[in-house]
Amino acid sequence: MDKVINGKLLREEKLALFSEKIKSIPDKLKLVVIQVGENAASDVYVRNKRNVCERVGILFKHLKYDSITEDELVSVISGLNNDSSVTGILVQLPLPEGINTENVINSISPLKDVDGLTIKNVGALFSGKPRLVPCTALGVMSILDNIDANLEGSNVVVVGRSKLVGLPLVALLLRENATVTVCHSKTVNLKEKTSQADILIVAVGNKEFIKGDFVKKDAIVIDVGINRDSGKLYGDCAFDEVVGKCKYITPVPGGVGPLTITYLINNVIEAYHLQKKD
Ligand code: GUN
Repeated sequence: MDKVINGKLLREEKLALFSEKIKSIPDKLKLVVIQVGENAASDVYVRNKRNVCERVGILFKHLKYDSITEDELVSVISGLNNDSSVTGILVQLPLPEGINTENVINSISPLKDVDGLTIKNVGALFSGKPRLVPCTALGVMSILDNIDANLEGSNVVVVGRSKLVGLPLVALLLRENATVTVCHSKTVNLKEKTSQADILIVAVGNKEFIKGDFVKKDAIVIDVGINRDSGKLYGDCAFDEVVGKCKYITPVPGGVGPLTITYLINNVIEAYHLQKKD
């Protein structure tokens, strides 16, 4: 296994597996992505989601609104909740100001919430009965599994406490008996914490925030950051400084990124089975 983890290779392996699962399902799966307002990054993410869905045979519907009220949005979602041809619903974030994101997200049926962001799915994860779990967190766990990272008893430091990445990772890592420390923007003496990590996971959205001296020798470094600067992508870690010290590192681009949409596909399949059971 190379020191620089190849997320694209792992994506191909997992997508082949998920495509087989989809072929064995007698119904057609359908993902609806809702986007509100103009956001160039969201346009790219939605296009990528469409491409991967089409590749594996999932129907993709993109509902894009220049402007819509919160009530109207909730009513659109209610229609999709009641439409048995819709397997998964995803509201692309961020939503424009003036719309309460939590209200909108929690109007999605937990059985169709492929982002795993509704209160019910977050509660299920933290009470030890995970159902639909945010796909980036699942992608990180699949990378750790693929390199045979020994999680039990390891010191894992997660930098970032977002609902999409940091928080679900805490729950998933605890399930594997890791010793988890969560750091965030108010953490005092961050370097002291990160330099204790056997496994360092960084998801803060701050270009090259983690320098070489933040990292313990031979640590595993998972960089979840995607930061655009002058048309180029950067991670949350200063790759050139960190790569010489660590055992493994995920590059940006080409590390965690490719696994995110891959696990969205996983979640559409999971959502289908949850609805069948219900
Ligand atoms: N915006 C950036 N990443 C994500 C994601 O994983 N899900 C949603 N809904 N919006 C995003």
